[in-house]
Amino acid sequence: MAYTVTVNTSKQYEVLIEKGGIDKCGKTMLEYFSPCTVCIVSDSNVAPLYLERVKASLETSGFKTCEFVFEAGEQSKNPATLLELWRYLASVPLTRSDMIVALGGGVTGDLSGFAAATYLRGVKYVQIPTSLLAMVDSSVGGKTAIDLPEGKNLCGAFCQPSLVICDTNCLATLPKKEFSCGMAEVIKYGMIDRPVIFELIEQNDVERLVYECICDKRDKVEADEFDGGVRQLLNLGHTFGHAVEKLADFTLSHGAAVAIGMVIITRYAVKNGLCPEEDLKLLIKALEKYDLPTGTDFSAQKIAEAAKGDKKRKGSAITLVVPTGKNGSVLIKKSTDELESIVSTGI
Ligand code: GLY
Repeated sequence: MAYTVTVNTSKQYEVLIEKGGIDKCGKTMLEYFSPCTVCIVSDSNVAPLYLERVKASLETSGFKTCEFVFEAGEQSKNPATLLELWRYLASVPLTRSDMIVALGGGVTGDLSGFAAATYLRGVKYVQIPTSLLAMVDSSVGGKTAIDLPEGKNLCGAFCQPSLVICDTNCLATLPKKEFSCGMAEVIKYGMIDRPVIFELIEQNDVERLVYECICDKRDKVEADEFDGGVRQLLNLGHTFGHAVEKLADFTLSHGAAVAIGMVIITRYAVKNGLCPEEDLKLLIKALEKYDLPTGTDFSAQKIAEAAKGDKKRKGSAITLVVPTGKNGSVLIKKSTDELESIVSTGI
């Protein structure tokens, strides 16, 4: 089954979800754009799997291609790689009527998107996400960024893609741990306000799961493109998740950390009468199905301390996303002084 989601932001674009999208990306892109030069950006893990196939499909449809492949890993999402990419684009040279294709996971999408936002003051880019996490989260919504030594995603821009092609066949080659990491974000949408996700998890319907997550993200991004309000609901589990990720020195996957963060805030909500206990049980059952952790050995004091460094903190206030079951999740502003007691309740 193929799905199309239209996203109406400052730029309107479509997200196509179907098996086999990679091998027909040239034909698909020809329906949206005139033939031009396309710089395919990918990393050393994904390029050997899909780069030649994307090139062949684009060239058969009349696009010229060139490629920039960087070393896989978050450590490459930095100013040095971005500079290399900018200089490569200038050497081609890529012009304003050309475009970038981001072929890979979240790092590739964020780096390519930021290059597209800034090179020549902006060129078009197409996302072809190959990980579950990138399909359901980072490829949609236009958040692009690189990391600085001082922290993740500190330099970036909102820049919406011109098209997103999710080929769900790619998920078959994902290592189990990476698939689980993406499932934590899928489960997150179920907890935010889309309970059908839990039914689809039981049915193992991956295309429909990806579709439902993207619809949920679309709703938030359309309502709040620049992240000042409801889009923040997408951070469910992330405040304490990021804290645990940092305390574990990034040895925990992002998904595992978000899983722990979701359990902490949901248990806190249950104990304060904000969320029915069934929802916590549903969450834990879904996380366990994908071997995701539901607890941590870090103390409440350490987690609270690390959470105070969250970049979404505003002065001494921090906005937490709290699930409330059938009514969806809500944003609650708390003082950073309250964090330790919140984590103690949820841990
Ligand atoms: N990843 C959360 C957002 O795009 O807002």
